[in-house]
Amino acid sequence: MKTGWLIVNGYLESEKFDEIYNWLIEAAEKRDCKLRKLPNDQVDSVLKISSGSTNWKQKPDFVLFWDKDVKLAKTLEAEGFKVFNSAEAIETCDDKALTFIKLKNTDIKMPATYMAPMTFDKEYKDYTFVLQIEGSLGYPMVIKENKGSFGEQVYLVNNYYEAVEKIKAIGHCDFIMQEYIESSKGRDVRIHIVGDKIVTAMERVNEDDFRANITNGGKMKKYTPTEEQCEMALKVCRELKLDFAGVDIMFGKQGEPVLCEVNSNAHFKNIYDCTGVNVADEIMEYILNKV
Ligand SMILES: Nc1ncnc2c1ncn2[C@@H]1O[C@H](COP(=O)(O)OP(=O)(O)O)[C@@H](O)[C@H]1O
Ligand SMILES: [Mg+2]
Repeated sequence: MKTGWLIVNGYLESEKFDEIYNWLIEAAEKRDCKLRKLPNDQVDSVLKISSGSTNWKQKPDFVLFWDKDVKLAKTLEAEGFKVFNSAEAIETCDDKALTFIKLKNTDIKMPATYMAPMTFDKEYKDYTFVLQIEGSLGYPMVIKENKGSFGEQVYLVNNYYEAVEKIKAIGHCDFIMQEYIESSKGRDVRIHIVGDKIVTAMERVNEDDFRANITNGGKMKKYTPTEEQCEMALKVCRELKLDFAGVDIMFGKQGEPVLCEVNSNAHFKNIYDCTGVNVADEIMEYILNKV
């Protein structure tokens, strides 16, 4: 019998997350694998980083890292654990700016994106950088906190004053400023990849908001991704060395795929409701084949 740890965040307690964890644990059980849920704040290694050799009593065959605690993931890798997704892949996806930087020199089409200047957490002295960037992006413009999900930290601003107001409101969070893909207003495609395989996909449509997220009111639709969209999703996963991911793709002016973002631990309850495909099964199958 194989054993694994399911690392979760000890501070994200909700039914929504518990449901995901249980699905993964059940998918493991079905394959004669014992997956043990372990909150990130209960893993010994965090406390023993400097001691050199840690005496692991029961080292699991793998770690399924359903968290964003990248330093813990890196520690586990340094201790010789096999971690899915890798710490580096999680780190890249958890930060929307990093995702774009890593894909910059590929042929993957993305909205024009600018990074906010870093200030050591000090207030901006002025907002001339916004003036410079608006010259290139125009309005409306998308402002996104680098770390965020469910569309909650993604904003549309219509002019300089709204942009400055929003930047002041989000405080010292890192953010990006991005070209608004109007042709994709309230609409995108979520593709789930496991290994080098398209597992399932859906279209999300929101008539009332530019953000297509289900949590934000988007409606799910059955959808067969185009060859171009599939190619993009697979390429993104290869470039970012993801074992599995949910890739969000927008529609460009001619309907061509434009990458929106990549989720290293994408929720899979909604897509199950839409398509009947259980991504947890695919993930466990993949991991158990690898270890
Ligand atoms: N540049 C953009 N142009 C148009 N719509 C966008 C753009 N970026 C994001 N969106 C919309 O906002 C939603 C949320 O953005 P996303 O980057 O996926 O953040 P989150 O991690 O919160 O889901 C997307 O699903 C998409 O519908
Ligand atoms: Mg998204």
